[in-house]
Amino acid sequence: MTVLVTGGAGYVGSHTALALHEAGHDIVLVDNFANSSPMAVDATRALAKPEVARLDFVEVDLCDAEALANVFKKYRLSAVIHFAAHKAVADSVNEPVRYYQNNLGSLLNLLEVMVEFGVGILVYSSSCMVYGQPLALPVTELAPLKPANPYGRTKLMCEQVIADVCAVQPLAAICLRYFNPVGAHPSGCLGEDPNQTSNNLLPLVLQVASGRREKVLVFGDDYDTADGSGVRDYVHVVDLAEAHVLALDRLAAGYQDAISVNVGSGFGTSVFELIDVAERVCGVPISFEVCGRRSGDIAKTWAATDLAAEFLGWRAKRDVNDMVADHWRWHSRNPDGYVA
Ligand code: WQD
Repeated sequence: MTVLVTGGAGYVGSHTALALHEAGHDIVLVDNFANSSPMAVDATRALAKPEVARLDFVEVDLCDAEALANVFKKYRLSAVIHFAAHKAVADSVNEPVRYYQNNLGSLLNLLEVMVEFGVGILVYSSSCMVYGQPLALPVTELAPLKPANPYGRTKLMCEQVIADVCAVQPLAAICLRYFNPVGAHPSGCLGEDPNQTSNNLLPLVLQVASGRREKVLVFGDDYDTADGSGVRDYVHVVDLAEAHVLALDRLAAGYQDAISVNVGSGFGTSVFELIDVAERVCGVPISFEVCGRRSGDIAKTWAATDLAAEFLGWRAKRDVNDMVADHWRWHSRNPDGYVA
């Protein structure tokens, strides 16, 4: 298949592009570099084997409908994996219009052009943020959808738009609800750009381990969790990338509808547990200081993974030690991320 990967220079996008390429698909990456670097495309290309399949790149802002249509004119696309979006929760609270405009606007343009050019397969990058604080754990796909911030609401609205379009057009879609993606490609050459991160926990912890930051601020130790700190379901980005390849296979095999599927490891890890793992993996003490809760944070979440197993044949293979070790390798080799 020839697959369009939007946001292909981003963290999950670049790892997925490589996994798709390794599975033999021709890839067209598009990105506007709003929160990514051209060096991520170079890194993906350097790891790809040109004899296996094509890997093209076009710089496009998906909010520019004409430029996007030109990509569809140029390539005979079979499927789209849509990552391109703004993703910083705090920014979404402060600048909701920018978030709704970009995340919804780009999806609407994409759907319009997919319908126009008869491209009927979509994998969408959604988020566990669509649930907000789940009432019951592990959270299943049938749990109430109550996102706690504008970013999460853009993800939920996009899922709903996709379902509405799938109901009336020859389009089928799988929305993958990611839990907390961490880790990096085992080569240490492809990873999350620290210049683009949204103040996520593990990159900050590793900055302390490498001496680039004095301490980690732990946002609350009085949650209703075993050690009082926030609990999340961390999932290795390479496992996540493989879930996209399987979702694409499932759609290509003839799935006709729209469905949302959790993609998490199924295990909860607290902030203190993650710091402990990082201390062991990196072999240095990691200073931290407990401060107040971060506004908009939930106490705990982790995924029910049955649907991913049954529907996609996917389960996370890499544990939290692998996640931290691979992220650490990437961070140690590229402490400033993608810089020339
Ligand atoms: C994890 C835990 C914090 C920073 C992320 C993405 C979001 C979505 C899901 C895809 C929490 C605590 C953090 C720090 C801390 N992914 N923390 N000190 O908030 O679960 O959301 O994953 O859509 O886009 O942002 O991840 O890494 O920010 O926080 O104590 O300096 O670490 O309170 O318990 P979060 P996170």
